Order: sequence, then C-alpha cells, then structure tokens
Amino acid sequence: MDYLLLILCSIFALVSGSSTTLQISSFDEVFSHLFGDNNLQVLKDGKSVHLSLDRRTGSGFLSHDLYLHGFFSASIKLPAYYTAGVVAFYMSNGDIYEKNHDEIDFEFLGNIRGKEWKIQTNIYGNGSTSVGREERYSLWFDPCDDFHQYTIRWSQDHIIFYVDNVAIREIKRTESMGGDYPSKPMTLYATIWDASEWATNGGKYKVNYKYAPYIAEFTNLVLHGCTVDPIELLSLQCDHETSSDSIVPMDRVKMESFRKKHMKYSYCQDQIRYKTPPSECVVDPKEAKKPKNIDSITFRGHHHGKRHQQSRLESF
Ligand SMILES: *[C@@H]1O[C@H](CO)[C@@H](O)[C@H](O)[C@H]1NC(C)=O
Repeated sequence: MDYLLLILCSIFALVSGSSTTLQISSFDEVFSHLFGDNNLQVLKDGKSVHLSLDRRTGSGFLSHDLYLHGFFSASIKLPAYYTAGVVAFYMSNGDIYEKNHDEIDFEFLGNIRGKEWKIQTNIYGNGSTSVGREERYSLWFDPCDDFHQYTIRWSQDHIIFYVDNVAIREIKRTESMGGDYPSKPMTLYATIWDASEWATNGGKYKVNYKYAPYIAEFTNLVLHGCTVDPIELLSLQCDHETSSDSIVPMDRVKMESFRKKHMKYSYCQDQIRYKTPPSECVVDPKEAKKPKNIDSITFRGHHHGKRHQQSRLESF
C-alpha cells in the first residue's frame, strides 16, 4: 500500500516537475503583428493565433519586449501536406544588431503528403552566421494532428530545446565558443513563410498553393524571462528564477534516447561541411557519419531576415 502510494507520488512529482505552471500570455498584451496583414488572426479566446501562408504572403508576430534569458514556449499545430513553408518559432535581435546578431531557432521544415515533418534547431551568436549549428530531427508524433509544446530555455550558459517537455538538445556555453553563444537581448518571433527554395528535401518540393492557405496554429504562449529596456539595454526585469539551468539526470537519459532515435542530422557530424568540427563538438569518431543524402541538406543562409523585411515593406 505504502509502496503504491510512493509510486503514485513519484509519478505526480514527475508530471508536475516537468510541466510548467507558468502563466499563459494574452496575445495583445505581449505580442504585435509583424507582417502578413489578415493572414494573422487572433482567435476570440485572445490567446490563440492562426498564422497562414497563401500565394500572397506568409505572416508572423513578435514580442513587444526584448528578453535576456528565460523560458519561451508555445503549443503549435502545423499545417499538413505539401507545405515547404517554414514555420519558425525563434528568438533574434537581427533588427537591432545587423552585423552581429544572435538567434535561437526552432524551425519546422515542411513536408509532403505521407512523409514526416522534420524539425530543425539552430543558434547564432554575435553574427556567427558562417557557422551554422543546425540539428534536424523527426518526431514521435504527427505535428499536424494536434498541438504540441515547443520550448526554448535560455540562460547564461545553457540553451535547452524541449518538445512536449522532453529535452531534445542542450547547448552548453564553452569558452571556445566565444561570442558564438547567444548573449544579447532578443525578441521572440513566430512566422510562417514560403521556403520552397530550400526547406523540404533541399528545395525539391515546393509549396503547392493548390492546398493553400497553410495555417499554423499557436496557443498557450508563455514568455517568462528578463525583459530589457530597449534604450538602456542594461536594466533587467526578471520574472523567472535562473536556477536549475541544466537538465536533471533523468531528463538527460530521455534526451539521449530521443537523439539516438530521432536525430537525422547534426552539424557536429557533417565532415563535408566542417572538416574540423566547431570546437564545442564532442564527436566520437565511430559515430561520425556522413549525412545520408547530402543533396537534401540545404540551409537557410541569410535570407530569412531579408524575407521579413520584404514582407514588411510590402505590408506597410
Ligand atoms: C561581438 O561582435 C562585435 C562586433 O563585431 C565585437 O566588437 C565584440 O567583441 C564581439 N563580442 C564577443 C563577445 O565576441
């Protein structure tokens, strides 16, 4: 009896430990429209948003505030079939620091019917755009069927990406990374845009607008971090504790098992792209493998930001 109780208690502790009780934001209080006019729709509940992509334009939103570190999360349901549109949930300060921006990305790379979505994570620090640190994964569910939670946790020396509370990647700041670790305040963004030229199988499959509009649904947006005054970038207002930065051992076991099963690409293992892997990579030579299909690995390069600017020009 006591034993059963103990098990129940530990299950409860686990569940409550890994799920967050952070407050869900009302859209208008914390976000603004970025581009795509009516292709952004805030639902009546005030906390859910539809971002759609059609032949005319994609759409996107951004946080009012700049954040230095914190917990940033959204439940997202992705559009199905022939998208090649990229849905991105990311942090950036590219509009403030054109030459030396920072970025932390979740990118959903589109799909074709019957094929699984791939998701990508990446970071840039202080303009390190010549060193992509991309990883790509499959998921253990179909992200078009339902909402799933995608989370970025960012602290002074760890960045952790989560899917439904499963840690999928941890980036530890190392001395040798230098400025490549994101360290300046950033804005949180969510966008959908046409990335036909690279996203799905390296551009082999384009967005098929016969099936448009493609709608990415967002809800349960959580922003908990230290907000920064945009003028005096130094004054911080924090509503989250910055302890527990690293991953607890049990979550690390889960993360390792996820990565073994679902990681399809890691820059650390891409010997064609990096003859010498970036300094933070710990590569076991036995594990190092060439990407299976190098043709299909195409990366975004710099045009993400440009695309936003174009769209901004078009819509204002
Ligand atoms: C970031 O880049 C700027 C401009 O290129 C440079 O002056 C600065 O030292 C860099 N910071 C770090 C931490 O590397």
